[in-house]
Amino acid sequence: MLIRIPRGWELKESAATPESAYLDRRNLMKGAAAAALAGPFVASAAWTADDDPSAGRYPLQRNIKFTLDREVTEEKVNATYNNFYEFGSHKQIWRDAQKLPIRPWTLKIDGMVQKPMEIGIDDLLAKMPLEERLYRHRCVEAWAMAIPWGGFELSHLIKLVEPLAGAKYVQFETFMNPRLASGQRQTWYPWPYREGLTIDEAMNELTFMVTGTYGKPAAKQFGAPLRLALPWKYGFKSAKSIARITFTDQRPQSFWEVIQPSEYGFWANVNPAFNHPRWSQASERLLGSDKRVPTVIYNGYGEFVASLYKDLPQDRALFS
Ligand code: MTE
Repeated sequence: MLIRIPRGWELKESAATPESAYLDRRNLMKGAAAAALAGPFVASAAWTADDDPSAGRYPLQRNIKFTLDREVTEEKVNATYNNFYEFGSHKQIWRDAQKLPIRPWTLKIDGMVQKPMEIGIDDLLAKMPLEERLYRHRCVEAWAMAIPWGGFELSHLIKLVEPLAGAKYVQFETFMNPRLASGQRQTWYPWPYREGLTIDEAMNELTFMVTGTYGKPAAKQFGAPLRLALPWKYGFKSAKSIARITFTDQRPQSFWEVIQPSEYGFWANVNPAFNHPRWSQASERLLGSDKRVPTVIYNGYGEFVASLYKDLPQDRALFS
């Protein structure tokens, strides 16, 4: 007989799921099954980047390994409530973000790799196996969404450039163009936006490079043409509009860490037990609904990532 021992990151279902959904589990399961069967997201006309030549690649086959316990956030809600400080420090940046030219777009990959490269985004897309994934998305400001991302697993790109044995971290850097991005003219911010992962985190199967949203090429406010999605970490780790990836033996210092190290750390794993000084992390607000639900450690992705942190003291989850 197989005895299943609950693991540390698992909450009782009643604690992890909104009560109404828990009581109505049968309907929830029916809904999730229907969503899985429904196949990939099919694009609606709104929020499409009209200068994106990769449109013919969409919709993408959905990878059914990644399931949701909640409904997908309505596209309009998601596309009109964004953090993208290059275009302003408020949530309604979507209009301004349309100024970002996404072709030509070159990704530079350098540092401790055998095969450094500069590659145009369409050449890169031609080499990568694109798929659709439904992921949760959780901001340290305690709001949450659920999103159909299109893109590829970062591990495929890492294998292409062959990191050197000494490479321990991967740094991601956003474009730099203060002429177009008014936020980058605010010189008190440490532009360009930077983020970092350990190489093990970067190779994890959850680590996803996003090129599309809602069944079509990503709209610019989501970080077109290339952004990260790290569903077990707070959203600030998921750098948008990436122009450079650098392999290094030094832990990168991120944009927010430079600004306020006591509030934004390197790890930033979703954890209900450790509050941000300004936002309790015990629960989260599901955007597009009036629901507030308990936060789950690693945002519910413990089965994929908990082993990465087995030697990390839990109290360092957010601030170190
Ligand atoms: N990437 C860049 N380049 N600039 C940013 O301001 N904001 C981060 C992250 N990536 C940000 C960024 C933060 S704080 C969050 S919560 C998410 O993007 C928001 O992603 P969304 O707008 O798609 O929800």
